[in-house]
Amino acid sequence: MPVTCVIGLQWGDEAKGKLVDLLTDEHEVVVRYQGGSNAGHTVVTGGQTYKLSLIPSGILSPQVQCVVTGGVVLNPASILQEIDGLIARGIKVDSNLMLSDRAHVIFPWHIAEDAILDKSCSSGENIGTTMRGIGPCYRDKVGRSFAVRLGDLYRDDFRERLNHIVDAKNATLGVLIANPFSAADIAREYTGYAERLRPFVADTTSYLLDAVEAKKRLLFEGAQGALLDVDHGTYPFVTSSNSSGAGVSSGSGVPGRWINKIIGVVKAYSTRVGGGPFPTEQDNEIGQHIRDRGNEYGTVTKRPRRCGWFDAVAVRYTARLSGVDSLAVMLLDVLSELPELKICTAYEIDGRRVTNFPSHVDDLRHSKPVFETLPGWQQDITKIRKMADLPQAARDYLARISQLIGRPVEVVSIGPDREQTIFAQRTS
Ligand code: IMO
Ligand code: MG
Repeated sequence: MPVTCVIGLQWGDEAKGKLVDLLTDEHEVVVRYQGGSNAGHTVVTGGQTYKLSLIPSGILSPQVQCVVTGGVVLNPASILQEIDGLIARGIKVDSNLMLSDRAHVIFPWHIAEDAILDKSCSSGENIGTTMRGIGPCYRDKVGRSFAVRLGDLYRDDFRERLNHIVDAKNATLGVLIANPFSAADIAREYTGYAERLRPFVADTTSYLLDAVEAKKRLLFEGAQGALLDVDHGTYPFVTSSNSSGAGVSSGSGVPGRWINKIIGVVKAYSTRVGGGPFPTEQDNEIGQHIRDRGNEYGTVTKRPRRCGWFDAVAVRYTARLSGVDSLAVMLLDVLSELPELKICTAYEIDGRRVTNFPSHVDDLRHSKPVFETLPGWQQDITKIRKMADLPQAARDYLARISQLIGRPVEVVSIGPDREQTIFAQRTS
């Protein structure tokens, strides 16, 4: 398909990186369009494991053009570290990487603000951010007065603007920070980053608009998951960008009319990192089984992930919201050996049964999951390569998910390797 999007439908960490890697060969351009170094995308290829954060997973294929658009918030030190790490492992990173001059730049005060202000306003429970300065940078972007875009680093008035911003940040953060920020030090540091990043900086919006008009094959790689979408997710326990399908156009500048196909990525169960309600959470031996088998520890922060059963109420909502055509169900092998499996098909809120995902976080907090129980399977499925060879219980489990979400299952992943992937009949 010429223009494809890969969107996480849960709370992130759905193994989007693996799917993007599998689809990369069919595409010429891979695009990251929102989020920042809060994302951690793991790709296992040729026996090597790569952990990518800001750079599109397509970078592992040298013929692919990788684009980081203006919707991304960019920490220059992080991306340079990522570039250096990839080059040291023999991966080509030069003209195949393009960074938008519109991308907003993360500064040390954003990281400091993340640490100070990581409190939800509704309940006192921490959002539990990744502490990468993502929210504060997006806040400055929307606020405009203290924002710096990548292209600004190359302008004559950069130092002057930085002086103004540093004065304001020192005044507002005041006693909350140990030492005031030094405009001279930060100017020196960021001018150094700017010089190193110069070859990559471009107007990616024009590039992508030319690319779609030239019928190039584009792959949009979503970060986070739709339940973390700032407008449509479990607000305020969300990230600060549009991580559902809604973010593709705003983040990249490519109008939705060009998109041919959207694949929604889910785990065969649910996980969540950080705070916020999670109706199907299993804070017990089942959650621990999933955590151990799925190695459910954060790529970015190493925090143990909260684990639970598949939530079809939440995923039906995000699949519709993101306009997905088909599902990729990842990490199915993690559920092997559990005697029985549960899928949440509805919530009970104050005695009412609902199948629409609640808009208010307090209703979600009070939601009691209504579970349907299905038989598990006891055999190892990691070497299976055909849908028909999966145990009947595994096929029934996938079929029920597909039925509840109302979308076909197109891909099933049964291990981290490229080969550990089953393609059902493709929908196109
Ligand atoms: P990938 O792309 C899972 C979560 C954080 C926190 C909330 C806000 O790997 O799927 P932020 O630092 O973004 O302000 O944190 O969002 N979060 C993620 N959880 N996977 C991610 O990315 C995430 N990026 C942010 O844990 O709850
Ligand atoms: Mg992650």
